[in-house]
Amino acid sequence: MAHDGKVLSSALTVHNKDQLLITGANDSLIRIWRVNGMPSQEEENVEVSDNMMLKTLEDFVSFKTVSSRPEFTEDCRRGATFLGALFKRLGGQVEMLSTDGLHNPIVYAKFSGKLEPAENRKRVLFYGHYDVVPADTKSGNWQSDPFKLKGQDGYLYGRGVSDNKGPIIAALYAVSDLLQDRELDSDIIFVIEGEEESGSRGFQDTIRKHKSLIGHIDYVLLANSYWLDDEVPCLTYGLRGVLHATVCIDSQHPDLHSGVDGSTMLSEPLTDLTILLSQLKDSNNHVNIPGFYNGILPVTEEEELRYDDIASILIRRNPKNGPVEALKRSLMARWREPNLTIHRYNVSGPDGSLISSHATANVSIRLVPGQEVEEIIELLRSFLRSEFAKFESDNTLSIRIDNKAEPWLGVPGNYIFRTLEEAVLNAWTAPDAEQSGTVLSASDTDGSKDSENGNGEAAPSKIKKPLYIREGGSIPTIRFLEKEFNAPAAHLPCGQASDAAHLHNERLRYLNLTKSREIFRTVFRKL
Ligand code: BES
Ligand code: MN
Repeated sequence: MAHDGKVLSSALTVHNKDQLLITGANDSLIRIWRVNGMPSQEEENVEVSDNMMLKTLEDFVSFKTVSSRPEFTEDCRRGATFLGALFKRLGGQVEMLSTDGLHNPIVYAKFSGKLEPAENRKRVLFYGHYDVVPADTKSGNWQSDPFKLKGQDGYLYGRGVSDNKGPIIAALYAVSDLLQDRELDSDIIFVIEGEEESGSRGFQDTIRKHKSLIGHIDYVLLANSYWLDDEVPCLTYGLRGVLHATVCIDSQHPDLHSGVDGSTMLSEPLTDLTILLSQLKDSNNHVNIPGFYNGILPVTEEEELRYDDIASILIRRNPKNGPVEALKRSLMARWREPNLTIHRYNVSGPDGSLISSHATANVSIRLVPGQEVEEIIELLRSFLRSEFAKFESDNTLSIRIDNKAEPWLGVPGNYIFRTLEEAVLNAWTAPDAEQSGTVLSASDTDGSKDSENGNGEAAPSKIKKPLYIREGGSIPTIRFLEKEFNAPAAHLPCGQASDAAHLHNERLRYLNLTKSREIFRTVFRKL
């Protein structure tokens, strides 16, 4: 019979030529197992638990949890079930949320700390997503099967390994390490969703529905972005918001032949759409929607200095990043300024001399603090409507909002960031930062190079104080979680700039995985 709880301690020994495993668990029982054939004490080494993490990641990556394609719905469900079983095996109390069939389930797992009474425990919510973006292998761009984890030259390759499966596994094993060593005081609550790459549909409703299960939260932590380069560890304190819209122009006619029917008498949907969308931006990429830039916060002096620091550090590491002013402008434009992108057009009917009766385009807008998502949606709608009205076209315009996310701006000096900062510094400054004899020979790590701290002061060699950065990407749930639980969020980027998230040959450096586990361990212990 297995234990009815979490194994807290175990030891291997030999008795009368039998190998015995002795386990003690929090069900107050000690059990003895005959385990002949296990590696002996001498064969065992420190890599064993790392290998367990690696094996888990390999299994996790093998699930094709692509949320944007209906044909993978079943794979998503299986991936969620795998994750739930894994959390349970490592001592979590697990619930699958929102299994209504409309959305991929959200996996909830609570790991209880030992501090008594329970009301005295801090409660940390770790947010992540098990879904991934598709991996197109037809073009031959992937060097290995994206759903089969492959280790090469210190890197792990596979779809989702950096965004976001690797970081989730690092956080989970950190909790497991703490439980094993009886060092976990706080409660750690994992909320791992399955539709982040599709705009986190259904997330808010489901979380609200299960608010009492989740309970009070003190801190929100996530790990779903990347360093600015491949060398300097970072902490992310800002993300842009986003809204995705589909703009449709429909004709009352069916698809027509452009030779037979095309004339100045006919308003063509794709032509209307092209002219309409061309009004959105000018040739300098400036958005023409009236009021679009209102409310955006001016750059403060402190912010200006931060950008100066980041730019000069990056340029010192790699002069190709320069000159300073240009890099600074580029970072500001991507992190603290909004933008509008036209992604793709779709038309009805086959190829050929066609006047399509339907034409649509996908547009997204990245938003920054000071811009209210709902207001921007209204501005976009009324601008498109009033511009279209000027055409006096026979066609009709409709606008659909597919998803929306508020921007997020954290507080770099708060307790959760300070705790993270110290943990990152310790993990990456440790003497083994250059090379940790891993199973994968992480050959190109260079913890030995000089670094600086976020204030631009030269730091002693090997000191790796993280840079505080913002990001242009979006994570729809963060600002929502902060507001819903009235708890500050912080973001630890685990991966490097060259991870190629969303692209082919996505990867994560093995050293970043193990260091992230170490950082999470410290942070979960201290928070
Ligand atoms: N991890 C990314 C967000 C991200 C990207 C953070 C780059 C920092 C830098 C996340 O998984 C993602 O892809 N988000 C989408 C959200 C969208 C589908 C609503 C994004 O930013 O496009
Ligand atoms: Mn992503």
